[in-house]
Amino acid sequence: MATQRAQALPFALGWQPIEQTAAHGTLREHATRWRAFPIREQLQHDRQRVSALTWHVGDWHLDLSKQAWDVSVLQALLDLTHATALPQAIAALFAGEPVNLTERRAALHMAYRGSAQPPAAQRDRFVSEETRLAAFVAAYRSGALEGFSGAPLDTVVNIGIGGSDLGPRLVCEAFAHWGIARHGTVRFVANLDPSDFVTTTAELDPARTLFLVTSKSFSTAETLSNTRLARLWLARHFGVTPDDPRLNGHFVAVTNAVEKAEAHGFDSNRIFWLPEWVGGRYSLWSAVGLPIALAYGWETFAALRSGAAEIDRHFQSAPLEANVPVLLGLLSVWLATYLAQQQMAVLPYAHGLQLLPAWYQQLEMESNGKRVRFDGSTAPYPTAMAVWGMAGTLGQHAFHQWFYQGTQPIPIEFVAFAPEPAAADDDPLLRARADAEAALAANAVAQAEALLLGRSEAEAFTQVRAQGRTEADARALAPFLAIPGNRPSSFLLASRQRPETLGQLLALYEHATFVRGWLWGVNPFDQFGVELGKQMARQIETRCDAPHDPSTAQLLTWLKKAAR
Ligand code: F6P
Repeated sequence: MATQRAQALPFALGWQPIEQTAAHGTLREHATRWRAFPIREQLQHDRQRVSALTWHVGDWHLDLSKQAWDVSVLQALLDLTHATALPQAIAALFAGEPVNLTERRAALHMAYRGSAQPPAAQRDRFVSEETRLAAFVAAYRSGALEGFSGAPLDTVVNIGIGGSDLGPRLVCEAFAHWGIARHGTVRFVANLDPSDFVTTTAELDPARTLFLVTSKSFSTAETLSNTRLARLWLARHFGVTPDDPRLNGHFVAVTNAVEKAEAHGFDSNRIFWLPEWVGGRYSLWSAVGLPIALAYGWETFAALRSGAAEIDRHFQSAPLEANVPVLLGLLSVWLATYLAQQQMAVLPYAHGLQLLPAWYQQLEMESNGKRVRFDGSTAPYPTAMAVWGMAGTLGQHAFHQWFYQGTQPIPIEFVAFAPEPAAADDDPLLRARADAEAALAANAVAQAEALLLGRSEAEAFTQVRAQGRTEADARALAPFLAIPGNRPSSFLLASRQRPETLGQLLALYEHATFVRGWLWGVNPFDQFGVELGKQMARQIETRCDAPHDPSTAQLLTWLKKAAR
């Protein structure tokens, strides 16, 4: 009954399948023209294009004028948002309606940014947990937390995977690169491969190490395995058994399954609650962000949250045609569903954001990598694009060749920062750093422009001739040097690198993910697909007699023989 009510929510709000809307037909017509990606030509002819397709929010400047669309396409997409009741969906999200339809839950990660209320029955618990968390952070940072031997704990190792790892890991790495003052050391272990644990802890002092075991379900195989390694690592160092309760001071759990954590021997006062209405990949704002707060301080964590809160306000109140997360969401719907793009690249031109593609990948692919819609029907159109990428300029020396001269265009999202102004003093090292930062931003801009403009065969011919080569040589080489251009890209440019800036960016992506899910009619807050692989792994580990398909049976036999 409750499931039916939850699933009825989109229809009560006014959602309808996009293929039944008038805007869908209009967009399909637009798509016949845009499939040729005539972006360069549009930029030449339409003088209003850049200003019409550029927006600002917070520290971010967003230029979508190099994308394969125009204002008429955007207008049709905006019509689609009205036909599918997106404004009502946004209101329902923030009001705590059960937008996670299949699990009958709200999605209220924004409560940690002060932008939404936790469910009434859990408000007191929410507030007291926040107080406990801040007090724990203060105690750690003051050096008051001691381990087994009485040494102060000043090294944090987060054990978690997926949403219990990527968000805090990305933020901690960004802050390290942005020169934000850190207390102690912070590390992350995620992989089931024990070499992750071994290499991460190799140079750490067990006496000073605090393990944060972060797992919403507290049943994730990777996390439990690494927790076991952690207890054994400490036990060996102190010469005690791994279940010695004196080791408990080295452990904290962040979870929704509090009883499970207790059953694993965690002290109740060292368990922080992650509510069921915060999805793993949306959880870095909650106690899952503990590594950020411990290493960089509660104020810095609050600044990150406040950047996200700015986007929450914008998402709820800006008109749809100037609403940046809506626009980012609409653009991807256009690219995936109407222009049949199957993948997009995210290229942060900032080494501190090198984990952004991985975080964004989980956010989008685990959220919207689905095809069954609210009404149980299968979407008759492609949904989420695969997301991948690498920090610029590293990718330039790896896969940009494919962008330039491969057979298919791929939409690219550049994320870049204005360089720091050159140092006033004469310190050559500072000057060189400023030069490198300026070169980095210039590279991002240049890549987007080169991908757009390309190089014609005639230009290539002239360039080869200018190098003193013969006409025959130039004619032979020109086709290989020609670059078609008209490769679509978005440009997100920030004026500074501060915690708020990052909070804004991550919240922009979160809300854009919600927008896409709503338009496609898929629930971005569940992940049933992942479960099947987990079950099969458990079966293979525990039941050697279980029946397998012939290919798997052969692999298992080989593995058994080859076991090292
Ligand atoms: O990959 C599946 C998944 O369930 C993710 O959604 C989640 O972020 C990750 O595993 C970790 O789950 P947990 O926090 O329960 O350990």
